Amino acid sequence: MSKQISLENISKSFSTDNRFVEVLKNITYSFEQNKSYAISGVSGSGKSTLMHIIAGLEPQSKGAVYFDGVNIESFSKKQKQNFLRFSVGLVFQEPFLINELSVLENVIVKGLIVGQTLSECKKRGCELLEKVGLKDKIDSRPHVLSGGQRQRVAVARALFNPVDFLLADEPTGSLDQQTGSELVEFICSCKQDCGVGLIVTSHDEMVASAMDCVLELKSGKLEQRIF
Ligand SMILES: Nc1ncnc2c1ncn2[C@@H]1O[C@H](COP(=O)(O)OP(=O)(O)OP(=O)(O)O)[C@@H](O)[C@H]1O
Ligand SMILES: [Mg+2]
Repeated sequence: MSKQISLENISKSFSTDNRFVEVLKNITYSFEQNKSYAISGVSGSGKSTLMHIIAGLEPQSKGAVYFDGVNIESFSKKQKQNFLRFSVGLVFQEPFLINELSVLENVIVKGLIVGQTLSECKKRGCELLEKVGLKDKIDSRPHVLSGGQRQRVAVARALFNPVDFLLADEPTGSLDQQTGSELVEFICSCKQDCGVGLIVTSHDEMVASAMDCVLELKSGKLEQRIF
């Protein structure tokens, strides 16, 4: 059964340096697992903020996020852990890799946490890294990679455990057209083959054209461009 992430009347404002910024205004929208979504919007329009709220990592000012009908604020600590391990795979705009670990270790750490064996994890990690075009970087440390290579490690890490949704914040932001297309093709194959719902923020028309639904964040509202 296809799961949903539903936003109900989500608003978010920040107050800093005596300035009040209302970034998201009363957004109501449902994302379906069996669809793919691109969210565009100019820099500062609130794309990353929205992604953090969807993942329950940033509190909204008003409204609620529901995962499959359950308000994510009502999750226990254990349910929240499971939500972040098995329901959503996150690719942040900054990849946040652990520099002390190799590329492969960064990717497999989520599997080790949930008790999979090292050999199983290494096998899957190598397969994923091959799919994102980084087979030859398995033993490298993240700090020697380019920004785009680090982003691709983050995509492999996000997809390590089978998840219901991939939330990827500008995953092609640092990639050239060719590498970007290959990454988008891989992400789309995860939807086709494993039923992963895709929510991808991007400025890139190539990403938009690969997704089923194209949304735009504009003046705090989420508008549907193409469905
Ligand atoms: N922690 C914070 N404190 C204060 N303001 C914030 C905070 N986080 C985000 N903002 C503000 O919220 C607005 C939206 O930021 P956000 O990072 O969500 O935009 P974005 O659409 O992801 O931009 P970009 O395309 O540059 O990544 C910006 O005006 C930003 O300055
Ligand atoms: Mg952003």
